Amino acid sequence: MEILVVAHPIVRSRLSVMRDRDSSNAEFRAALRELATLLVYEATRELQVRDTTVTTPVAVTTGAAIANPPLLVPVLRAGLGMAEAAFNLLPESQMGFVGLARDEATHLPTPYMASLPESLTGRPVIVLDPMLATGGSLQHCLELLHARGAEDVTVVCALAAPEGVAKIESGGLAQMLVTASIDERLNEDAYIVPGLGDAGDRQFGPR
Ligand code: PRP
Ligand code: URA
Repeated sequence: MEILVVAHPIVRSRLSVMRDRDSSNAEFRAALRELATLLVYEATRELQVRDTTVTTPVAVTTGAAIANPPLLVPVLRAGLGMAEAAFNLLPESQMGFVGLARDEATHLPTPYMASLPESLTGRPVIVLDPMLATGGSLQHCLELLHARGAEDVTVVCALAAPEGVAKIESGGLAQMLVTASIDERLNEDAYIVPGLGDAGDRQFGPR
């Protein structure tokens, strides 16, 4: 799995707003939206394009269009905060949804919805979730995608823990991980340290 940690100054500044416990829900959502734009931009560098013919006011020239637009898959709830940014960059894409809630005691994901095309054979997929902690949620999502034939999966997350990165890497179902930071570790509650807290609650309020 290729791992890209984007250390751009604007990425680092938006991540710092998200980390700040005093940022409001609105400030957190705005920073995540901007961060997602920058991370998805980096994650799509190698997307294939096809030539198009463009007539400018002056001449005819060769343009480019995304050849095979990826399926965007936000992981609910927290991934919803990245969905609009990704759609804005890739308006020709389609979107699927996976709903998972982590059990506070066991730290295991409880699936509550999946709305995905039946076949993902030959389609690139971009998974959007701000947090990769134990990796249980993401691994579950990757297994759903794999079962539908997805073979080209990029994961975009704001923050990752080393434990989650190792789990996803050993699972072998993601080709690329793009993140703004790989933090120090997980704490006893399986929260990322230093992290930013609960990414769903910080956007939408407590469940
Ligand atoms: C968060 C986050 C990930 C998951 C990461 O979601 O958005 O999906 O935790 O944890 P893991 O790597 O240990 O599985 P959560 O389950 O809290 O649900 P929410 O997005 O609805 O708040
Ligand atoms: N989910 C979150 O939202 N935050 C963490 O630190 C870990 C899992």
